[in-house]
Amino acid sequence: MNNSLSRTGSVPAIAVQGLCHDFGTGEAKVRVLHEVDLTIQRGEVVILVGPSGSGKTTLLTLIGCLRSLQTGSVKLLGQELNGASPATLIDMRRRLGFIIQAHNLHKSLTAMQNVRMGLEVHGAAGLTNWQAACQQALSLVNLGERLDFLPEKLSGGQKQRVAVARALVGNPEIVFADEPTAALDRENGRVVVELLRDLANQRQTTVLMVTHDHRILDVADRIIKMEEGHVVDDRSIDESIITTDLEEANA
Ligand SMILES: Nc1ncnc2c1ncn2[C@@H]1O[C@H](COP(=O)(O)OP(=O)(O)OP(=O)(O)O)[C@@H](O)[C@H]1O
Ligand SMILES: [Mg+2]
Repeated sequence: MNNSLSRTGSVPAIAVQGLCHDFGTGEAKVRVLHEVDLTIQRGEVVILVGPSGSGKTTLLTLIGCLRSLQTGSVKLLGQELNGASPATLIDMRRRLGFIIQAHNLHKSLTAMQNVRMGLEVHGAAGLTNWQAACQQALSLVNLGERLDFLPEKLSGGQKQRVAVARALVGNPEIVFADEPTAALDRENGRVVVELLRDLANQRQTTVLMVTHDHRILDVADRIIKMEEGHVVDDRSIDESIITTDLEEANA
């Protein structure tokens, strides 16, 4: 049987095997990821926790085609990234969405125009109904009333929600989120993570999210814990009562 196939016979969204990563060269070389193995099925919401410096962002950026692989294998939707051509990586990035803490909105563009940038990344900005697609994405994050606002007229939470709309407007198959709620209050944070949960339920979108915010762990199917570049715990939420242990991991 092909190991890349899941129990149900479908190709996993993410399959990582023996992934290592070093920063620096020569004597300054430091290994920050050690033989990471990880399989995530389509439609799963997985939260990555662990102390600062444990390698969460490094792992996310490697899996998300934002950093070159050194050693090991990462397969996204069945496609091996290690050794893949630049064209393959560009095609793959179009199938992904990213939500990062620093929202990187363009200051001179309105909310709608910023969200349209998300369609451009997906090669879909020429869609005749791009306005409807952007409007729908902004409505999803409760910003349907602020389509023509420039970022300077939006609060921090609203800007982050525009960035979420931008990440989701192209219907990505996998969404990578690095501390998406860090700049948000509880209510706005909840809107964002529940939206991701709904996407997973309704469209089989796969979500891999790093967070230090233990209030949102309940939206996950699985919680993976990292320490010093190793995966030290990987369990589904029904087995895992959200313990002091995990809260400590997020401290
Ligand atoms: N560009 C870089 N050059 C050198 N070392 C780096 C670089 N980026 C990260 N590191 C180191 O790699 C290790 C893992 O960093 P990473 O950013 O992945 O941690 P993290 O788990 O995301 O932490 P945090 O919770 O603080 O965001 C850290 O020791 C960090 O100092
Ligand atoms: Mg990080």
